[in-house]
Amino acid sequence: MYILGIETSCDETSCAVLKNRKMLANITVSSLSFHKKYGGIIPEIATRNHLRVIDKVLKLAVERSGVDLKKIQIIGVTHRPGLIGALVVGLNFAKALSLALDKPFLAVNHLHSHLFASFLDNNLKIPFPFLGLVVSGGHTELFSVKDFDNMKVIGRTRDDAAGEVFDKVARAFGLGYPGGVYIDRIFKHRLKDSFKFKCGKIGLDFSFSGIKTALIYKKMELQKQGRFCKDIKLKLLCSFQESVVNAIVENTLLAAEKFKIKNIVCGGGVIANTRLRELLSVAAAGRNLKLYLPSKELSSDNAAVVAGLTFYLYNIKRKESRFGLMAASN
Ligand code: KG4
Ligand code: ZN
Repeated sequence: MYILGIETSCDETSCAVLKNRKMLANITVSSLSFHKKYGGIIPEIATRNHLRVIDKVLKLAVERSGVDLKKIQIIGVTHRPGLIGALVVGLNFAKALSLALDKPFLAVNHLHSHLFASFLDNNLKIPFPFLGLVVSGGHTELFSVKDFDNMKVIGRTRDDAAGEVFDKVARAFGLGYPGGVYIDRIFKHRLKDSFKFKCGKIGLDFSFSGIKTALIYKKMELQKQGRFCKDIKLKLLCSFQESVVNAIVENTLLAAEKFKIKNIVCGGGVIANTRLRELLSVAAAGRNLKLYLPSKELSSDNAAVVAGLTFYLYNIKRKESRFGLMAASN
């Protein structure tokens, strides 16, 4: 069957066409360049850009897929969480298409769709039950997943999300946006233990705002002493990243042990981080856990993962929504 996916939860406007789990087209246009000078996403700019480009992104995705729009059997769309104005654009666009094509649509959860990334375009059997780790700009959450319609949050950040803290720290250090990408790029193993920072952890919950403050205070202190230079800046940022990724890995292992789950499925923009992927892989191998890491391309926001989850929920679980806002996965 052919599935159309639509994603507009943040700054990416994305449309994808899948044939079952096979990706035929996945077109994403980001409004990032319009936000860069503010050092973060401005919701109104994101919303207006979705409105400006969504029909063109759909047209491109349909053309690229070679599938006639009339052949689409189900439309999947992100309905939460995300920026409300941005979500409304995608959701209403999906509803209008659903009405025009007389095909059902499915409103899916953004975080759940991040977890679907590893199962796209290959014949991997989904390893239920699994531990879901979503690390993105807005969320750091651990899920116990019995199925995609039976998931429970077992750990989450109490304050800033991991991606958010990467972005805020990068901004304080004069790097570009999105900060995670820049910090990942400059990371050097030999500098990772130069400073000792610690992230807060409460049971399986995370806390990242403390390390951000500690890092910024350390920078100010070193500046006052005239000791802040390029080399120190690099050391601070490498030590910061090491501490954040270690906190994520430690809580993931703790959760796997506590819930006796052998499969770990990851998703979200921060999962593209090289050091995080390395540490997760080493930790999983050492404990006989099976780790599912999506490609870096499918880690960040895109509509293919929305379409993939839609296919699963519609085809396997027989879920659909018509015009009331009935969500398939909350
Ligand atoms: O999942 P995503 O694309 O959007 C949200 O749902 O938030 O994640 C975006 C976040 C940003 O905070 C960005 O800095 C972070 O993912 N990110 C990274 C990397 N690539 C993107 N963080 C660390 N290392 C990366 N390579
Ligand atoms: Zn996301």
